[in-house]
Amino acid sequence: MRKNIVAGNWKMNKTLQEGMALAAELNEVLKGASLNCDVVIGTPFIHLASVAAAVDSAKIGVAAQNCADKESGAYTGEISASMVKSTGAAYVILGHSERRAYYGETAATLKTKVELALKNELTPIFCIGEVLEEREAGKHFEVVKQQIEDSLFELSAQDFGKIVLAYEPVWAIGTGKTASAAQAQEIHAFIRQTLAAKYGQEVADATSILYGGSCNAGNAKELFSNPDVDGGLIGGASLKVADFKAIIDAFN
Ligand code: PGA
Repeated sequence: MRKNIVAGNWKMNKTLQEGMALAAELNEVLKGASLNCDVVIGTPFIHLASVAAAVDSAKIGVAAQNCADKESGAYTGEISASMVKSTGAAYVILGHSERRAYYGETAATLKTKVELALKNELTPIFCIGEVLEEREAGKHFEVVKQQIEDSLFELSAQDFGKIVLAYEPVWAIGTGKTASAAQAQEIHAFIRQTLAAKYGQEVADATSILYGGSCNAGNAKELFSNPDVDGGLIGGASLKVADFKAIIDAFN
C-alpha cells in the first residue's frame, strides 16, 4: 500500500548554521518516536550534504527543492540531479508553483527535470495545483490534469510508480487559507482517478498524493484523515520543530 509522507519545504529560509540546528533538533525529537509516516525535509541546496550527514536517514529523508534540466556542463549557477544525489539527498521537489510562477518553469522543462531525477535515482515530489481564478472558474480539475499529463504521462508505469505527487492549490500557499478537507479529498480522488485511467488502479493506489498549502498542526489531522490524502508538503510550519512534529503526529 502507498506511503504516508510528511515533507517539509524550507524554501529560501535558514542559513546553513540555522538549518543544521533545525535538522539536529528534528532528528533528536524523532529519535525515540515511532512514526506512521515517512518524514522528509526539503532544504536549500547548500544545506543538503551537511543535513543529510547529520540526520538518521532511516527516519528523515532529505530533499532538494529543484534541480537543473540539464545533465552537466556550462550552465552557470545550476545544480544537476546527479549533484543532488551525491549529497545524500533522496528526493527532489519539482514544479513547485513558486518555481513555475517566478522562474518560468514550463511543463516541458519539468518533464526533463523529472526524467533526470529518476535517472539519478531521486524520488521526485511533483507539485501541481491551480491558481485562485482557475478555482473560481471551476477549472481546477482540468488544470491539474493538464499539469500531470504534460510533464508525467510519457513516463512508463514503472517510472511513474516512483513519483510522489503534491497537490498544492496556489491560493492556499503561505496565505493561511487552506482547502477544506472536503475540497482536498475531492481533487485528490480526481487525481487518483486520472492516474488510474492512464496507468491502472494498482499504480494509482500505490501513488502517494500529498496536500500542501497552509497545512498546520491545527488542520493536518482532518486533512490527512481523507482516504486520498496521503500526507502533506509543509512550508511555513516546517520551520519550527514543534509545529512540524505536531503535523507528523497527525498520523498517530
Ligand atoms: P505553506 O507552503 O505550508 O507555507 O503554505 C506550502 C508549500 O508551498 O509547499
